[in-house]
Amino acid sequence: MGAYADLHRRSITDRESFWIEEARRIHWQRRFDQVLDYSRPPFARWFVGGLTNLCYNALDRHLAARGDQPALVYISTETDSEVTYTYRELHTVVNVMAALIAAQGVSRGDRVLLYMPMIPEAVIAMLACARLGAVHSVVFGGFAAASCATRIDDAKPKLLITADAGLRAGRAIHYKPLVDEALRLAQYPPQRVLVVNRGIDAGFKPVAGRDLDYATLAREHAGAQVPVTWLESSEPSYILYTSGTTGKPKGVQRDTGGYAVALASSMERIYGGKPGETMFTTSDVGWVVGHSYIVYGPLIHGMTTILYEGLPIRPDAGIWWKIVADKKVSVMFSSPTAARVLKKQDPAYLKKYDLSSLRHLFLAGEPLDEPTHRWLHDALGKPVIDHYWQTETGWPILSLAPGVEPAQVKYGSPGFPVYGYDLKLLRESDASEAAPNEKGVVIIAPPLPPGCMTTVWGDDARFVDTYFRTFPGRLLYSTFDWGVRDADGYTFILGRTDDVINVAGHRIGTREIEEAVQSHANIAEVAVVGVADSLKGQMPLAFAVVKDVSKIETEAGRATQEQEIMAAVDRQLGGIARPSRVLFVTLLPKTRSGKLLRRSLQALAEGRDPGDLTTIEDPAALEQIRHALST
Ligand code: PRX
Repeated sequence: MGAYADLHRRSITDRESFWIEEARRIHWQRRFDQVLDYSRPPFARWFVGGLTNLCYNALDRHLAARGDQPALVYISTETDSEVTYTYRELHTVVNVMAALIAAQGVSRGDRVLLYMPMIPEAVIAMLACARLGAVHSVVFGGFAAASCATRIDDAKPKLLITADAGLRAGRAIHYKPLVDEALRLAQYPPQRVLVVNRGIDAGFKPVAGRDLDYATLAREHAGAQVPVTWLESSEPSYILYTSGTTGKPKGVQRDTGGYAVALASSMERIYGGKPGETMFTTSDVGWVVGHSYIVYGPLIHGMTTILYEGLPIRPDAGIWWKIVADKKVSVMFSSPTAARVLKKQDPAYLKKYDLSSLRHLFLAGEPLDEPTHRWLHDALGKPVIDHYWQTETGWPILSLAPGVEPAQVKYGSPGFPVYGYDLKLLRESDASEAAPNEKGVVIIAPPLPPGCMTTVWGDDARFVDTYFRTFPGRLLYSTFDWGVRDADGYTFILGRTDDVINVAGHRIGTREIEEAVQSHANIAEVAVVGVADSLKGQMPLAFAVVKDVSKIETEAGRATQEQEIMAAVDRQLGGIARPSRVLFVTLLPKTRSGKLLRRSLQALAEGRDPGDLTTIEDPAALEQIRHALST
């Protein structure tokens, strides 16, 4: 048995002693009494009774040995600036931020919502919340005001932290008016809004009595030292909202101790990073990848982390490789969509810089197609490791682990089950195990390992009902992905089992988009499906039935309606969810019992065979779909 297979086996058969060893990687202010409490399945509590803190592990613990080492390097090709914080400097500013957040009455267990661009203050605020034991909830800056409001009402934050504006390709995205709108829409708006004024939005207007200026308060609290709030291992560190099949986003709740241990472990064993080295993760702090591998993972491991604000192709397609060369990056983490964007550029950019420091490039978030995988691998001359995980798990489920043994990449596969995960591929019909090369549902037999979500924020029943009820009578965590394992044990991910689509690595529920489309006054019914896209993986496509057909009789009329519907989606969810097209029909293909034939619809949209249509209520619906697609 290879070293990795042995490690994985031990993590399952000898779970407790395995995780006791891993838990040594972090600082415990008080040691835990019990490794795992699984007395209330499927709720798992790891390292029961242990006291720790994410901020302490990310910063304070390193001060003695690496106070002068860069901790955070902020590089912005939007503002043409670069700022480096050593561990000591980051510790200082995090203390100031913690002091000014605490001065707003925020304490242990209180929520703080962050709606931030990719600036150091986003990282500083996350760490400051962690220091105080406050629960941060970062909402991706690309989400619309209405989406932000839904999350505010679920998390009920005491404080919201934002900036005047973000930047994208040199264009300002004004955050403050968006936050103002979100607070108008919310039922439980926080009393205070802390604003980092970058000086980008000249028309920026604070709301008197509500908005606080970060720079002013930071001066007032200069030099503050804020003691760490020690949390019991299972106390929440953060909430991160993600999409599912219903329109209502789920608050993925993360613990403290289990998460710290899982991240510390993965930094070495999976990513093969070494303290003192540099990691460059190109995600956004608003996503789980940003939480785990821009902020907490690298810092807990004593690495330097890079926070990049900008596009991968500005000022040119060599910018990321320039950063790798300049900062001697050893571990890089990006997304398949970014890889496909770079693949369209001049390959000379990949040869222009000295990439000798780089050992591995990891990609995750969406399926990595074999041609892109192969291209990048060859062009870089370094192992490109596709790995698979979810917001829910917080760290990889399937990966190669070059930190344990050399990685044998198989194109198109994210590799093997990560230690700690008792992963199975089950037949949908009877929950029996799929044979090699046979498709099955990817499930994790609980208990979920440390670091994974502990519940849905405020809704234990929803946690159980959503994730553990796929197979009646069996408590198994469903990833809602299809997978297949080949004879060598490599797993391949084949797509979602539910109605979630993946647009450029952003996970979006088709139901959410349908609800947004339906907010348009002339829409009677709508179906949104994900259609394969060569760059973004998938794009949403909407088929809409209108109430007043006179509005879509002319081409100009249809164009106007389509634009209005797209604007409605932008308003409700944000531009990332906007359908590529809205096609008008008078009938949607449904079964006689009224169920939408979603898979057939998707197949037709992708030019594939729609499959078994014997249950269709009215075949005329299909003709309409075919016709609409041909226009
Ligand atoms: O469908 C899978 C897909 O993205 C989903 C999780 O998305 P999210 O919660 O945003 O978390 C991303 C964390 C990296 C999964 O259920 N997915 C993620 N990685 C891969 C993938 N599909 C195929 N291959 C991957 N490597």
